[in-house]
Amino acid sequence: MDFKKKLSQELQPHMGEMTHEEILTTIEIPKNAEMGDFAFPCFKLAKVFRKAPNAIAEELAEKLVLTDAFEKVENIGGYLNFFVNRKAFAEAVIKEVMEQKQQFGSSKIGEGKVVCIDYSAPNVAKPFHVGHLRSTVIGNSLYRINEFLGYKCVGINHLGDWGTQFGKVIVAYRNWGNKEEIEKEPINTLLELYVKFHDEAEANPALEDEARGWFTKMEQGDEEALALWNWFSSETIKELKKIYALLDVHFDYYQGESFYNDKMDAVLKELKEKNLLQESEGAAIVDLGQFDMPPCLVQKKDGSTLYATRDITAAIYRKNTYNFSKCLYVTDYSQNLHFAQWFKVIELMNYPWYKDIVHIPFGRVTHEGRRIQTRKGNVVLLEEVLTGAVTRVKEIIEEKNPTLENKEQVAQDIGIGAVIFNDLSNNRIKDISFSWETAFSFEGETGPYVQYTHARASSVLRKAEIDVISDFNAEILTDDISMMVLKEIQHFPQVIQDAERKNEPSLITRHIIDIAQAFNRFYHDHPILVEDEEVKSARLAMVYVVKQVLSIGLYLLGIKAPEKM
Ligand code: ARG
Repeated sequence: MDFKKKLSQELQPHMGEMTHEEILTTIEIPKNAEMGDFAFPCFKLAKVFRKAPNAIAEELAEKLVLTDAFEKVENIGGYLNFFVNRKAFAEAVIKEVMEQKQQFGSSKIGEGKVVCIDYSAPNVAKPFHVGHLRSTVIGNSLYRINEFLGYKCVGINHLGDWGTQFGKVIVAYRNWGNKEEIEKEPINTLLELYVKFHDEAEANPALEDEARGWFTKMEQGDEEALALWNWFSSETIKELKKIYALLDVHFDYYQGESFYNDKMDAVLKELKEKNLLQESEGAAIVDLGQFDMPPCLVQKKDGSTLYATRDITAAIYRKNTYNFSKCLYVTDYSQNLHFAQWFKVIELMNYPWYKDIVHIPFGRVTHEGRRIQTRKGNVVLLEEVLTGAVTRVKEIIEEKNPTLENKEQVAQDIGIGAVIFNDLSNNRIKDISFSWETAFSFEGETGPYVQYTHARASSVLRKAEIDVISDFNAEILTDDISMMVLKEIQHFPQVIQDAERKNEPSLITRHIIDIAQAFNRFYHDHPILVEDEEVKSARLAMVYVVKQVLSIGLYLLGIKAPEKM
């Protein structure tokens, strides 16, 4: 059914050396329907044929003999513009979605390959802020996209569960802490202790030494220190799991930084054997001067290891354990240098898979214009954002649709969906400003808008009271507006593959907005539940496929698609 592929095959004999793949990527879909349904720019061919693109297009337009799939070809300004046979196109697109249902757009390209995805990774006893939310949401979407394309995914939560902050929290807990409070609200309480420690240490620097002492005890295996550390971590993970459940995010493994404590000696030894270690003021570094980077510090003077040491060790562990074909790391771009440095170390260690470890950086989040800080105050806790979102949607439902069944669940699906959608709306590298007003609007390019469009399609299908539409006259769906919807749908599988290749879920976000907008135009102009049975069933077929595609798109972003709202 793929008209683009078909076109590429028909073009190939006239394209000199150009491969099928090259032709496919050259074919464009014009935004303006007057320019046809597909367009082929002839500019690349100008060099090969030593002729002006105009002349090439003119010649080809005459020479090409097209099959039934296409009605005509025209040449305009160096472009070949192809017009599909609308009826055949509508029939093919709709039938394909009807057959594949929730699998439409899936593929086997990843079969037999493993992708490790390292995402979320908040730090115990530090805030889980909106930056971690972005990592969670982007990572989760990449997981679903890769899985949909046939890859086996391994989702890993590389929790920051080891480090000097524990020394601080132990000191704070022993001075000002309370057991019940930690059990009740671990993330907030530990954070408060952490913040209090910093406030107190300003006036009393001796606390810093005490904290360092406790972390050293942890590293030396002191029972009391480790028991506290273990308890802080496990209470935190318990609460994190509640947040992940709310987000419908899951991990195959919780392997935090401490998981590598007993695995780093071997790696340090290996680095030494490979002559990569140098001593610098008592510390061990890998010099990266010839790559224009500061050295990668792998062991401090006091023997303790660092964030980078644990990342190098974790990567080797993951390669040996899961044999990934790629391993993705989702963090904000402030860690670009960190990843560039230790990726280089893996390369210097002569591991050929250094090419398969990829940093997926994303922009920072500001909240209503303010920078989000981690250490003191002005912290937007994730929970606050999520529960705030749900409360807001509940209010809207009470106002607009108070008799809705299952109100709580729907409010949750929409509130959380809005936050996720907002996060995934722009190229991930862009900084985003989170604002309640834009994220929760039911108009404009938002999650609630797409969910609402999906619910609207579901409601029409419910009212029509037919389960399957097997027979429809595609001729009825050949007008300009219907064609616009169908073209977006036919393009959807390609968008999913692009999203995987570029690690960019926002391509899907934007595409389902396009589909929703095109469909709402269709819905506005074409009454669906009309007397004429033939017209009715064709339009219902359209509604059905749009509902399928929107629900797949939302799923790939990690968002629920309620039937009613
Ligand atoms: N815990 C780190 C942070 O909050 C993120 C860890 C990312 N993953 C990794 N393998 N380094 O910044």
